[in-house]
Amino acid sequence: MDLYLDSADLDEIRAARDLGALDGVTTNPSIIAKAGADFHERMAAICELCEGPVSAEVTATEHDAMLEEAEPLVEIGEQIVIKLPCTTDGIRACNSLSSRGVRTNLTLCFQPLQALMAAKAGAFLISPFIGRLDDIGQDGMDLIQQIRTVYDNYGYETQVLAASIRHPMHLVQCALIGADVATVPFKVIEGMMKHPLTDQGLEKFLADWKKRG
Ligand code: E4P
Repeated sequence: MDLYLDSADLDEIRAARDLGALDGVTTNPSIIAKAGADFHERMAAICELCEGPVSAEVTATEHDAMLEEAEPLVEIGEQIVIKLPCTTDGIRACNSLSSRGVRTNLTLCFQPLQALMAAKAGAFLISPFIGRLDDIGQDGMDLIQQIRTVYDNYGYETQVLAASIRHPMHLVQCALIGADVATVPFKVIEGMMKHPLTDQGLEKFLADWKKRG
């Protein structure tokens, strides 16, 4: 399973890269606003650090305006993937961009038929949001399983990018289901390397080492 970092923080991106855990980066308008940087400049800086796919989300909501917004973004680097919402206009824009060879990531996916439409429109990635479904009392992981099954049943090549991941157990379940990619905040990457028995075991090894004759 590929691991993307869901962040526009350059320090976090460098840290994930140094761990060998940076297969790509995803951003969204909230993440860019939090970074407080110029959108295009920050996307360019991210492309300097990441060789894999880097998702840049449009804020336009209508087809033509989405394409206009996508144009300067794709010029930033060959890593750029245009992120579009799973709306009618977003799916149409996906179809237009895919037919020109531009890779897209269809975001805010909350049901399997949106994922089916995205695949038909030639999306490179589909982003089902696990945590936001869990937040309203639905099982977000069911959606990952449903999309995996639909894509496998018909051989769609769109990659399932599990998004809105809140904790390491989400990641374990995504890997077991067979999501192609998971995008995670940096704190989840940190959590992936932690186990209390590792810390206790190391402490004991070092204490025993000090006592050796
Ligand atoms: C994915 O591309 C989104 O940026 C992200 O995973 C959303 O996560 P959130 O629901 O924690 O904001």
